[in-house]
Amino acid sequence: MKKPFVAGNWKMNTDSRTSVDLADSLASGIVENYNATVAVFPPFVYLQAVRDALDGSSIAVGAQDVYFEPDGAFTGEISVSMLKEIGCNYCLCGHSERRHVIGETDKLINKKVIAAIGGGLLPVLCVGELLKEREASQTNEVVTRQLKEGLAGLSAEKLAAVIIAYEPVWAIGTGLTATPQQAQEVHDFIRKLLAQMYDDESASEIRILYGGSVKPSNAADLMGQKDVDGLLVGGASLKADDFLSIIRASV
Ligand code: 13P
Repeated sequence: MKKPFVAGNWKMNTDSRTSVDLADSLASGIVENYNATVAVFPPFVYLQAVRDALDGSSIAVGAQDVYFEPDGAFTGEISVSMLKEIGCNYCLCGHSERRHVIGETDKLINKKVIAAIGGGLLPVLCVGELLKEREASQTNEVVTRQLKEGLAGLSAEKLAAVIIAYEPVWAIGTGLTATPQQAQEVHDFIRKLLAQMYDDESASEIRILYGGSVKPSNAADLMGQKDVDGLLVGGASLKADDFLSIIRASV
């Protein structure tokens, strides 16, 4: 049985005070014997302070993005070793806002995934279709491309370090959640695709998270699906009580 993985993506929210307040509330509210892995993904500039505030708790910290080069003239970018040095364990790669707002390509995302694993960060590779792609019945095709290109060159051994997050773009920040059945259908498709790309064992062991308008009221139903191994929460992770309720509903 895989441990559920519940992650809070704070996106470009909080400030130096509210990020630490939120971390403090989570640290004091979390029950350490929850059988779940919990991580928060604050903005880069608050990572260190949030890490410090969570010290002694079981909550891990991750970054919302990373660059693939180890160092050098890459203005504005943050390397894997910088994130490792301040105690990050995870990083998101290819979040839909980076794909569709910033314009990241599958090729770039693949380089980030490879660099993260090489440097000891566990990448959360995000995939998911736009509304027009779902309406055109292209969900499986889009997710297949994102997974094949995002994971290109990775061995089964390296795949074990990867977490996949299925986040249908039409459900992100819209209040429109995929039904548990819609989520399960795509998660099942992803697992079968990974079994074809790798093998049955790798596919069954990989964690596939669902993200997109997860709330305390729908977390348990989503987590009740056979192939949903965790949740990637945006808006609701900014409220300690809501995020803690989601964690409780996930275990
Ligand atoms: P919301 O939960 O706000 O829809 O965001 C989901 C998300 O993008 C998490 O990465």
